[in-house]
Amino acid sequence: MSEIRCIGICTGGGDAPGLNAVIRAAVKAAILKYNWTVIGIPDGFDGLIWPEKSRELTLKDVSGILPRGGTILGTTNRGNPFHYKTVENGEEVTRDISDEVITNSRKLGIDAVITIGGDGSQKIALDLAAKGMNLVGVPKTIDNDLSATEVTFGFDTALQTATDAIDKIHTTAESHHRIMIVEVMGRDAGWIAIGAGIAGGAHVILIPEIPFTIQKICEHVAQRESFGKRFTVIVIAEGAQLPPELRENRRASAISNLIGNAISAGTNKDVRVSVLGHIQRGGSPTPYDRILATRFGVAAVELVAKRDFGKMVCLRSERIEAVQIADAVGIMKAVKPDGELARTARAIGICFGD
Ligand code: F6P
Repeated sequence: MSEIRCIGICTGGGDAPGLNAVIRAAVKAAILKYNWTVIGIPDGFDGLIWPEKSRELTLKDVSGILPRGGTILGTTNRGNPFHYKTVENGEEVTRDISDEVITNSRKLGIDAVITIGGDGSQKIALDLAAKGMNLVGVPKTIDNDLSATEVTFGFDTALQTATDAIDKIHTTAESHHRIMIVEVMGRDAGWIAIGAGIAGGAHVILIPEIPFTIQKICEHVAQRESFGKRFTVIVIAEGAQLPPELRENRRASAISNLIGNAISAGTNKDVRVSVLGHIQRGGSPTPYDRILATRFGVAAVELVAKRDFGKMVCLRSERIEAVQIADAVGIMKAVKPDGELARTARAIGICFGD
């Protein structure tokens, strides 16, 4: 069994606050504990198409990056070496360049790669591992929708950002007696919406896991009015399922505008919409995310040191563990409609529109 001397690190998929904290932790542990060389691979596995773009990461390179959002390595959510899109003679073609990627990693002297990414990046890692690349995964997404880990870093920061926004919306909603909608990210899961909705004291939360009707929301607004509450704050997950009557306009507008217009028509009240978008992916990671990211980075290096490849670090019962990447990919973690979090929200009068 050959000794590990050099590792590569790459970040793939959408960025999340805490990526730099993982890179810093992995680089520090690799150099300080094991005296390995670390190569930073730019823009996910795309960086291995042009190996000359990869560069050594020293302790100096990771100094000061802990509180920084984004990733110093760059990322892409399009790159897949098995389906690499390129333009040849003016036409888009898709090629499998996975062999080149593996050859180039060997040319760089890389013995193993730590890949920090979400479900898509881990699937690519699995396919590269099947072709002989030594890989270890670190899960990442602000959506917190990976089933193999209780929490992903980036989620807590996104929650903080969304909660801050809801707090700010609250006072203007109350002053103007309006219905205010805040649309948050989360892809097909409602974790950011339900978390920030509860934390920000929202009155209605719409998530992909719970189908809703406009009528129920309007009834809830009317009920609040009858109690003298002339404003309503609604948090909508970007992946919420539109009721059938609004679906045909789906492409025309952001989901919250469609829902907002329908609620305005049903309540005869002013509705304003704020779509938070990529603000939730930026900014300095919270202490929770910095700590989790640091633990993940160090744990990934330990897996490499044990040559325990094909695994992804994860958090289970507050402990850092590892799972087979093969068992981790493709299984989305959704909010349970009748789970404790949803029941807690209902118990304090939050309406899910159902
Ligand atoms: O998965 C993270 C995420 O921010 C989702 O919440 C969102 O749906 C998506 O990525 C946005 O992706 P893009 O950056 O490609 O617009």
